[in-house]
Amino acid sequence: MAGNPGTGKTVFGGQFLYRGAVDHKERGVYVSFAESRGRLLHNLSRHLEVDLGKLAEEGAIKVLDLQAVKEEGVSTVLEMIVEETRALNAKRLVVDSLTAMAQAFKEPVELRIILQMLFSRLIEKMGCTALLIVEVPTGRRELGLGMEEFVADGVMILRKRVIPRLDGRLVRELEVSKMRGTELQQPLYLFTLHKGFKVLPPFKVKPVDEKRRFQAMPDTDTHFSTGSGDLDEVINGGYPKGSLALYEIDDDISQLEWELLLCPALANFMSQGRGGTILPAGGIDADIAARAVMNLYGFTQEEVDSLLRVQEPQTGTSPDRPYRSLLEGLDAEKDIAQLMRTMGEVKEETGKPAIYYISLDTAETLWGEEATRRIGSLATIKVKKEHDVVIKLTHPALKKINEKFVNLADLHLKMVKEHGAILLYGEKPRTGLYVMEMDTSQGYLLPKLTPII
Ligand SMILES: Nc1ncnc2c1ncn2[C@@H]1O[C@H](COP(=O)(O)OP(=O)(O)OP(=O)(O)O)[C@@H](O)[C@H]1O
Ligand SMILES: [Mg+2]
Repeated sequence: MAGNPGTGKTVFGGQFLYRGAVDHKERGVYVSFAESRGRLLHNLSRHLEVDLGKLAEEGAIKVLDLQAVKEEGVSTVLEMIVEETRALNAKRLVVDSLTAMAQAFKEPVELRIILQMLFSRLIEKMGCTALLIVEVPTGRRELGLGMEEFVADGVMILRKRVIPRLDGRLVRELEVSKMRGTELQQPLYLFTLHKGFKVLPPFKVKPVDEKRRFQAMPDTDTHFSTGSGDLDEVINGGYPKGSLALYEIDDDISQLEWELLLCPALANFMSQGRGGTILPAGGIDADIAARAVMNLYGFTQEEVDSLLRVQEPQTGTSPDRPYRSLLEGLDAEKDIAQLMRTMGEVKEETGKPAIYYISLDTAETLWGEEATRRIGSLATIKVKKEHDVVIKLTHPALKKINEKFVNLADLHLKMVKEHGAILLYGEKPRTGLYVMEMDTSQGYLLPKLTPII
């Protein structure tokens, strides 16, 4: 395991032993050349949010503090490591770090000799898995190893990378450059050190085992819940009452993926007998939207008929449905009037706050740039006055339209993909990076957001 300073090598090593002890009943030895036993246990326990000290007391893990071994010869020290490993019958060994070990003695030792010894005595004879940490000085990208890379069964590299297109936010990357006997899906993964070391694989759809109806999330005096506790937390409490939330979504994010983040708010409104009006993104018509709301969140046909309104350009073939509101698609002014009317309708019927979704892309396709800006502004004025919420979906290519709404927006969030993982971050409020996964534990689809730190 190689990496620059502060990339998470020690956290990974600690977790390797912790999981071994807890999940697999495998004892482990941590050989530390850089930190004292006490500090290592304290820091790792804090980072992993577990009690490693207790595991050490119970004998499940052992930390060997070898900071001061200058006086000993290298073979004595190696003998010690082998002895401790054997005495504990440890199946996992971490050397933190191989680099420090090679420099620890009066006479610097060749890594080759240390490695040979570890291999023949521990790894081969005792079936011990050794994680050898290698320090790479800041600014150097190559490992600067040599033969170790060939001898090891696996080579992993940890990196911190600042990404310009994410406005200088930092991501952490794991490169698995070698892993004998393992077929790798991809060479690069994102990871986070939030509550320990966690790899963030490409976004995966999960099955819902037992479907349940959406459970309402309570609002506060000042904010509507987004329907997702995680998203509420990221944006400091939800959508402010009377606000515009702008979501800028990269083209490689699929419909299902942004729906996962945006639609719980609609479900949360509907579950409280409140209305929602949608000008959907391309490819989604009223029937698709209605079916999705019933399927994903367990609403009934009656609820959809009375609470949902979906705007759809007239194609001449759609049968009448209470939730369908047809737009002429010819005269922008007429359509805008119709849209505003529909927005008012459910709100009047329910006598409750309402939520609106507007796809700026759809608006631009139907009516062009000028009219899109006009309708966007009118809708914003309306929700601010009436203390509702409007969510506008857009993508980076609609630059001129976005510019206008970035200034008006109370919230401005962006979704991008990186190594297959979906990332969310806020420009307004400014937030760090979060990775979005699918959470089906409630019986319906919710986003799970984990910070990348
Ligand atoms: N849960 C956490 N929350 C916040 N920060 C964390 C958390 N876990 C780790 N960090 C930060 O990440 C950094 C990386 O941890 P770690 O000590 O594992 O790096 P390292 O690669 O071993 O660095 P070095 O080469 O300097 O030993 C730590 O300095 C710590 O500040
Ligand atoms: Mg370290």
